[in-house]
Amino acid sequence: MENALHVKNLSKSYQRRVRKPGLLGAVQGLFSSQTEELHAVRNISFSIKRGERVGLIGENGAGKSTTLKMLTGILVPTEGTLEVLGRVPWKERRQLALNIGVVFGQRPQLLWDIPVRETFRLLKTMYRIPEEIYQVTFTEAVKRLGLEPLLGTAVRQLSLGQRMRCDLAAALLHAPAIAFLDEPTIGLDLSVKEQVREYIRDMQKRFGTSLLITTHDLKDITEVCDRLLLLDKGKLLFDGSIREFERKFANESRVVAELHQPATPASLKKMGAEVKRHGGKIVASEGHRLIVEYRKEGAAPALTQIILKRQKVADLTLEKTDIETIVTRIYRRKPDKK
Ligand SMILES: Nc1ncnc2c1ncn2[C@@H]1O[C@H](COP(=O)(O)OP(=O)(O)OP(=O)(O)O)[C@@H](O)[C@H]1O
Ligand SMILES: [Mg+2]
Repeated sequence: MENALHVKNLSKSYQRRVRKPGLLGAVQGLFSSQTEELHAVRNISFSIKRGERVGLIGENGAGKSTTLKMLTGILVPTEGTLEVLGRVPWKERRQLALNIGVVFGQRPQLLWDIPVRETFRLLKTMYRIPEEIYQVTFTEAVKRLGLEPLLGTAVRQLSLGQRMRCDLAAALLHAPAIAFLDEPTIGLDLSVKEQVREYIRDMQKRFGTSLLITTHDLKDITEVCDRLLLLDKGKLLFDGSIREFERKFANESRVVAELHQPATPASLKKMGAEVKRHGGKIVASEGHRLIVEYRKEGAAPALTQIILKRQKVADLTLEKTDIETIVTRIYRRKPDKK
């Protein structure tokens, strides 16, 4: 499969004025010529194939928006190379604009005084969108994102969530080859988030769009993407499928059984050996509760059967470390070392 974009050893540093603490320091800082370098993105490399759906996650300040800004030609990299649809974004931003769609959720792009419907018509002309494409993208957006009641309203007068929906519709109006969506579900209520994900998924399928989405809502990733990139203080800490991510970072999964009677030491011993052979370990037997932990993928059915065979079980649950828990653990793992 052909690459939609390719990034190699990409870095971005910002020059920041050094400021002393306090109000006086802030004022002095305005006139100071002393600067410091902030390494927002540090030597990252990755490619995205045509039609791939990739999620980019990371803590606040990890460098996600900076990466997207370089990919969309808004920022010039400090070091490294990047190519989007065979073009260098910061050199060929205008040509690229016709083939990419961009949403910056923290700062919606459409801020015009004209009604939504007119905004879309204007974009149609600007992007030279063929009528048959526009008919599909416009009609679908209106239907799927519930835009009908908003079409006559000036963009400026929309609420954040309403504007976000219009922004997304606008970004996909020309059925771009790649969509860069920076927090496309920010500020949306739960049902609208679902609508937005469904819309992105459908448009992706219909036009084979390559997607790069950043988000703090991991459902956006698990429901829309098949691959995950994790930025950690500007560095790429993980690049792979969501399953690989879980496999690499998830700790133990557990089978928790509520027993009719506490397990006897003798039965625990026998069961312990059998459980071990199947990749598990009895980590607790407290009164009526028995907990078996395992790391091996696919071990749950065998372990469950062993427990059911050896004990009288009243209830049984499987606890898997979900992706949110894993990500929270990674974010909390270490002190800030910028
Ligand atoms: N224009 C700028 N000038 C100086 N520093 C900046 C600028 N923009 C971003 N930074 C810094 O670069 C780092 C990365 O910022 P970036 O906006 O890429 O993070 P992010 O991953 O998008 O975070 P968030 O989840 O909060 O949106 C941060 O430390 C931020 O303070
Ligand atoms: Mg950001």
